[in-house]
Amino acid sequence: MDKKRDSFSGKLGFVFAAAGSAVGLGNLWRFPYLAAKYGGGIFILIYLILVLTFGFTLMMTEIAIGRKTGLSAVGAFKKLDKRFGFVGYLACIVPFIITPYYCVIGGWVIKYLFAFLTGNVSAAATDDYFTGFIARPVEPIIWFLIFAVLTSVVVIIGVQKGIEKASCILMPILIVLVLGISIFCITRPGAMEGVKYYLLPDFSAFSPTTVLAAMGQLFYSMSLAMGIMITYGSYMKKDVDLHTSVRQIEIFDTAIAFLAGLMIVPSVFVFSGGSEEALGKGPSLMFITLPKVFESMNFGAVIGVAFFILVLFAALTSSISLLETNVSIICDKCHMERKKATILASAYIIIVGAIVSLGFGPLDFVKIIGLGLLDFFDFISNSVLMPIVALLTCISVGFFIKPDFVYEEAECNGKKFKEKKFYTIMLKWIAPICLVLILVFAVSEAMGWISV
Ligand code: PHE
Repeated sequence: MDKKRDSFSGKLGFVFAAAGSAVGLGNLWRFPYLAAKYGGGIFILIYLILVLTFGFTLMMTEIAIGRKTGLSAVGAFKKLDKRFGFVGYLACIVPFIITPYYCVIGGWVIKYLFAFLTGNVSAAATDDYFTGFIARPVEPIIWFLIFAVLTSVVVIIGVQKGIEKASCILMPILIVLVLGISIFCITRPGAMEGVKYYLLPDFSAFSPTTVLAAMGQLFYSMSLAMGIMITYGSYMKKDVDLHTSVRQIEIFDTAIAFLAGLMIVPSVFVFSGGSEEALGKGPSLMFITLPKVFESMNFGAVIGVAFFILVLFAALTSSISLLETNVSIICDKCHMERKKATILASAYIIIVGAIVSLGFGPLDFVKIIGLGLLDFFDFISNSVLMPIVALLTCISVGFFIKPDFVYEEAECNGKKFKEKKFYTIMLKWIAPICLVLILVFAVSEAMGWISV
C-alpha cells in the first residue's frame, strides 16, 4: 500500500490532469476516423447524446469511487463491497490491452513529426507513404519504442511533476492550433460538402453499429470503464467540486474531438473526394489526410511540426495515465516498489506492442474474427470489456453498494446535486439496459450471427 498518495494541487489541477488523460489520440485520431466512417452527422449526434447521459453518469460514479476510497480500481471496489472486487480486476485488464497499441500509434505520430522536421512534407503527403511505412518490419517498432520509453520515464518521475505541468501548458495551445487548422480546412474549395456530411445527421445512415461505435469511443475518449478515473479520483482533493469537474472534462474532451473531426473529415472531401472508400480508411485516416492539408498550406511544414508535437504531448499525457494506472495497481497489490512496477509494466507493453506493430507488416496474415491485431485489441477492449465493466459498475453501485456515497461526494462542498434523480435513473436502469443490448449486438456481429 502506498502510504503517501500524491494529490493534484489546486482546483483546475485536477480538471487539467484528468483532461490530460482524456484528451489524446482518442480525440485526435480515433474520433475523426469513426465519424468519417459511420455517417458523419448521425455519429456526432449519437455521440453527443451519449456524452451527456452515459458519459456523465459513469464519470461521476468512477471519480466518486476513487475519492471515497482513496484507492485504485481493485482495492476500491473491494473496500466498497467485497463481492465486487472482481469488477476492479476486470477494469484493470483494459489498460493492459490498450496501452501497447496506444504506444504503437504514438510511435506513428513521432514518425510523422520526424518526417516533417526533416522536410519530407511532400513525400509524407503521398498516398502510399503511410501504408509503406507501417508495413515495414523494423522502423515502426523503433518509433514505438521511443514513445513507450518516453512514457515510462515520465511515470517514473511521478504524478504531479510529470502530468500536471505538461498538460496545463500544452492543452490550451493544442486547442488554438486545432481551431486554426480546422478553419483553414473548412474554407478550402469543396470543403462545404464535407462540413455538411459532418454536421447534418442523415438518419438513414443510422444503425446499431453506429451506436456501438459511438459508445466504444465514449469510453475510450473519456478514459472510462477501465479504472483510470477511479485512480484519478483517488488523487482528487475533497474541496474540488465533483459535478463541475465532470462537466468541465466532458466539455473539454468533446470539444477537442469535435474540432479534430472538423479538421479531418472536410479535408477528406477536399483532397480525396468524399467516397466511401476515402472516408472508411479507419486508423490510417489522420496520417493520410493531414499531411495533404499541411502540404497545401503556406508554412505547412512548420505548422505540421507544431501540430505533431502537440499531438505527441496529448498522446503522452494519455499513455502516461494508462501506464500510471497499471503501475499504481501493481504497487497497491503486489507491494512492489514503484520503479520496479513501472519497469515490469513497460516490458510487457514493449513485447505486446511490437507484436501489434508487426500486425501491419510480416504478421498481417494474422486475423482474429476477421480483424487485424490492432483492430482486434481495440474491439476487445472498447466493444466488449469496457461495456461489461461499465455494466457491472452501474449494477454494483446502483443496487448493491447503493449510490449514496456518490451523492455525498457530489454534495460534499455544501452544493446541491441537481441532477441526482436523472443520475440515479441512468445508473440503475437506462445505462444497464442499453449496455446489455449493445453487448449482445457487439458479440453477435463479431461472431457473424447477424450482419448489418
Ligand atoms: N482517453 C484517451 C484518449 O482519448 C486515451 C486513453 C484511453 C487514455 C484509455 C487512457 C485510457 O486518447
